[in-house]
Amino acid sequence: MTIDESKLDSIINEYKAELGSLIPILQDIQAEYNYLPQEAMEYVAKKLVIPEVQVFGVATFFKSFSLKPRGKQQIHVCMGTACHVRGSKNVLGELERKLGIKAGDTTPDGEYTLETVNCVGACAIGPVVVENEEYHGQMTPIKVEGLLNNR
Ligand code: FES
Repeated sequence: MTIDESKLDSIINEYKAELGSLIPILQDIQAEYNYLPQEAMEYVAKKLVIPEVQVFGVATFFKSFSLKPRGKQQIHVCMGTACHVRGSKNVLGELERKLGIKAGDTTPDGEYTLETVNCVGACAIGPVVVENEEYHGQMTPIKVEGLLNNR
């Protein structure tokens, strides 16, 4: 991937290229690209004058960072116990079928990323699917159609 170094510079400069600002810098880069491109992490390491392995270490330690490209729409299917017993596996299967990807992957057009999570704290309305920030309760495979309205 080609990264825009001037964009990265403006992010890094905002934090005055201080070592302690590595996490907010990575957060801003992820907000820009929806994930952390390898080239961007290498560039940050160079600019902060720290080993690349340190940047990769932070990026892989925090679950909120993604090293793989993510779609514009983030779909999380809850696979916690309460949702599982109410059929979340079938909901996930239908999403995988409709999107043509497996959980953890992103559609080739960069539109959707499908992921599983364990309990999003809304067990009473399970099975739950969270689309971006929006919770959808009592999900069924049939309701998946409405969720993916542009598919
Ligand atoms: S198990 Fe799905 S919200 Fe708790």
